[in-house]
Amino acid sequence: MVILQPITEENFEEVLALKASEDLVAPNHESLAEAYISLKEAVDEGEPHLAEIPFAIVHDETVVGFAMVCFEDGEDVNSDGDIFWLSRLMIDEAHQRKGYGKAAMALLLDFARSKPNGCEPKYAYTSYAPENQGASKTYASLGYEKTGQMLHSEEVVRLIL
Ligand SMILES: CC(C)(COP(=O)(O)OP(=O)(O)OC[C@H]1O[C@@H](n2cnc3c(N)ncnc32)[C@H](O)[C@@H]1OP(=O)(O)O)[C@@H](O)C(=O)NCCC(=O)NCCS
Repeated sequence: MVILQPITEENFEEVLALKASEDLVAPNHESLAEAYISLKEAVDEGEPHLAEIPFAIVHDETVVGFAMVCFEDGEDVNSDGDIFWLSRLMIDEAHQRKGYGKAAMALLLDFARSKPNGCEPKYAYTSYAPENQGASKTYASLGYEKTGQMLHSEEVVRLIL
């Protein structure tokens, strides 16, 4: 069974050891540094619920992937409501194409719908490099649709929550 876990002292070294194509996703040490900075800034601004939230993706007690999400006002994508943004998703090369990415995404969408910290997003958004077939298929299989927008040369997709 796939579950999401917060990043802790127990799992962070396993998260750092995960590998996926750096052409497609930033390395996890960079993402965890971003999460730290984001949390510090959000706390300083009195809005800790707007910080990036990193998760370990765990299958039967093995850390197989990493995800990072945040809640935003959706200004970057001209959204007419608050959004749940998937900032990172990666499954370790040794564990790809076993259904873990899709299972983790379904759990992340459940998390968004659970209104954590009072956040009540209207849409889930993410983006990916146009040539990234794995990302394209994973998001499409959960109901994300192309918006026609490009953000930092990436295809933007959206799902109504
Ligand atoms: C994209 C990624 C997270 C998908 O996770 P995964 O566990 O490998 O994917 P799953 O096994 O859950 O497959 C989900 C769907 O995508 C398809 N898929 C996955 N990888 C694929 C690939 N490389 N090419 C084509 N289809 C692919 C599967 O067939 C499946 O389709 P289905 O639901 O129609 O059967 C993973 O491959 C990854 O980490 N890639 C590198 C980093 C990356 O691209 N991250 C996303 C950045 S936006």
